[in-house]
Amino acid sequence: MSASTSVSASPERILVGVAGGIAAYKAAELVRRLRERGVQVRVVMTENAERFVAPLTFQALSGEPVRTSLWDSAAEAAMGHIELARWAQRIVIAPASADLIARLAQGQAGDLLTTLCLASEAPLFVAPAMNRVMWANAAVQANVATLATRGATLLGPDEGDQACGETGVGRMWEAGAIAEAVLEPRPDPAARAVLAGKRLLLTAGPTFEDLDPVRYLGNRSSGRMGYAIATQAQRLGMDVILVSGPVSLPAPSGVRRVSVRSAEDMREAVQAHVSGTDVFIATAAVADFRPSERSDSKIKKRGDGGLTLELVQNPDILAEVAARQDRPFVVGFAAETHDVERYARDKLERKRLDMIAANRVGDDGCGFDADCNALEVFWPEGRAPIGKASKTQVARELLGMIAERLGELRT
Ligand SMILES: Cc1cc2nc3c(=O)[nH]c(=O)nc-3n(C[C@H](O)[C@H](O)[C@H](O)COP(=O)(O)O)c2cc1C
Repeated sequence: MSASTSVSASPERILVGVAGGIAAYKAAELVRRLRERGVQVRVVMTENAERFVAPLTFQALSGEPVRTSLWDSAAEAAMGHIELARWAQRIVIAPASADLIARLAQGQAGDLLTTLCLASEAPLFVAPAMNRVMWANAAVQANVATLATRGATLLGPDEGDQACGETGVGRMWEAGAIAEAVLEPRPDPAARAVLAGKRLLLTAGPTFEDLDPVRYLGNRSSGRMGYAIATQAQRLGMDVILVSGPVSLPAPSGVRRVSVRSAEDMREAVQAHVSGTDVFIATAAVADFRPSERSDSKIKKRGDGGLTLELVQNPDILAEVAARQDRPFVVGFAAETHDVERYARDKLERKRLDMIAANRVGDDGCGFDADCNALEVFWPEGRAPIGKASKTQVARELLGMIAERLGELRT
């Protein structure tokens, strides 16, 4: 790796490769998003991409000339393709057509984009976009697997409506998600080595316990910590299923989300997906109690009198997963207002967890319903702090600790 290609820091120079597919128009938004973050962007289009979007669009958005051909005598007088390959700190191909993926997997160099990918030491990100049947084709799957084995990071595709009128897996990730993934520091290779290919089941957000058709008992959990873990786990190559209570967050790209409302719904979804899971992380703030009865019609005022609610205990989803014979590596979360270590260790032992991440709620604006967090992580033989940081950074560090523990247990 060249000195200019930093592994950990955010990149300052990104080369966007655009291949010939309907989603080429979304690459314009990607360039805009990257420029907004202060990144220098150069765009290289395949000749077929020009049939979908004019180079002038990318030139205007990037503020740089756009290259489309290897046979550009002015640019190549100074070996322009090698200069571009060296200039790029990261290369992202969005959209990546099935054909371009095949050419990259074979190491072809018949056009500018494939040539400079071969000639560059920059990390490569590939955002495929194609019809769902093309994506499912064994040839395409073998080609993306080859690229992944050689270190390329695959961004997507997502599931959803497609330009061809079908619905399925093949949609390109949204520009914002691609920009975020490309700008992030590279995932920790040691964590990736342990976690890639493993299945993560994760709960996040609050649960709502209905009293009647318009009222419920809920809590202030925003789901942001769980969603950050789901996103980072996906980046480490994990197969992530996110069982989420009602939150206002979009599903992270590449993550399967199962939306639920109550604790009982969450339990059902967890039970349905837990088999075959390697790691279970319970970040959801599951209501301990629910009303003993749910009224089918809106509860009315009764004169001046009050209303007494009878509550019954909800199932303990975390303890149930930890008690399974085929239990995954189980990580709990504890939000405490005081005596953090005592309560966290008690929960760790009582519920037979492998790890518990505790945060002190109410401290310096971090934790519940905030963008930052700080955790104290405990496992049977040890503990480690994760200092105050963004939830994205905290998620990365926590996954690193889980990978380390899993690695130790394996040996
Ligand atoms: C209207 C139209 C839409 C297309 N959309 C896609 C697509 O979304 N994904 C894809 O892989 N190929 C798509 N193709 C096929 C590619 O354009 C074709 O394979 C081409 O050779 C790709 O060239 P490139 O990889 O050099 O850009 C489409 C073709 C047409 C005519």
